[in-house]
Amino acid sequence: MSAAYLNGEYKPLDECQVSVLDRGFIFGDAVYELIPFYIKKAFRLEAHLARLKRSLAEIRINNPQTDEQWQAIIERLISQHDEANGYVYIQVSRGVARRDHAFPKDTAATVFAMLGAWPALIDGALDKGLSVVTVDDIRWNRCDVKSTSLLANVLMKQKALESDAHEAIMIREGKVLEGSATNTFVVHQGTVFTAAKDNLILPGITRDVVVELINTLALPFVEQAASLQQLQEADEVWLTSSTKECLAITEVDGQPVANGQPGPLWHQVYAAFQLQK
Ligand SMILES: Cc1ncc(COP(=O)(O)O)c(C=O)c1O
Repeated sequence: MSAAYLNGEYKPLDECQVSVLDRGFIFGDAVYELIPFYIKKAFRLEAHLARLKRSLAEIRINNPQTDEQWQAIIERLISQHDEANGYVYIQVSRGVARRDHAFPKDTAATVFAMLGAWPALIDGALDKGLSVVTVDDIRWNRCDVKSTSLLANVLMKQKALESDAHEAIMIREGKVLEGSATNTFVVHQGTVFTAAKDNLILPGITRDVVVELINTLALPFVEQAASLQQLQEADEVWLTSSTKECLAITEVDGQPVANGQPGPLWHQVYAAFQLQK
């Protein structure tokens, strides 16, 4: 059983137990972070810790660890993983208390971290690309907080799978925002579009890496959500996340994107991404 950390103790994952009164369980009153590692080294650790701190501050949980303590937990778990690549999942809830919506007083946060195996690449992901369906964004207005309250995302992802697609892309007021667990890039008439980092999307760390690469490669770029019509007429579509990196989407709602093959800009960005690891 893989190694984990719970409230100050390192132990096997199957020995970690949390009360049913934990507010993470009862209310989804918790935030999380997922930090990938390559060859035993955490990728973009500073950015992940900064986002974790921001998520905690936004929902008013005192950060229970210093950056050095977080780093020590992450590095110790990485050292115990039996593979060179993987990820560390961290979750902080508002703690255990009698069920009441109001914040409990003097309750310690529940701090949990576990290792995750690097997921196998989806069959054909690199040479054929992935398929997506579009769905209405039914989430709340604080999608920038990396909260464990993910019911809308779970329902959308399930809808995608039941439509034989890999991911669902959310549309709000005619704008392409992001996937259920990924950010979205649309190339339309040679310009790359991605939604700006506001309250309507999760500010993906991989998204930021890809934006850096787009700038380095001097590709035409606007930080603005593409319209649904631009998505339907796109030259290329990509998704990004910590465990998927940057993958091409070649089918939207059953229709091919351009010629249905991963496009030339994606090839450039994908190759540049591999050099970052
Ligand atoms: C809704 C949503 N958007 C985007 C992402 C991608 O973020 P990152 O690149 O930091 O993994 C995630 C990751 O979990 C997500 O849940």
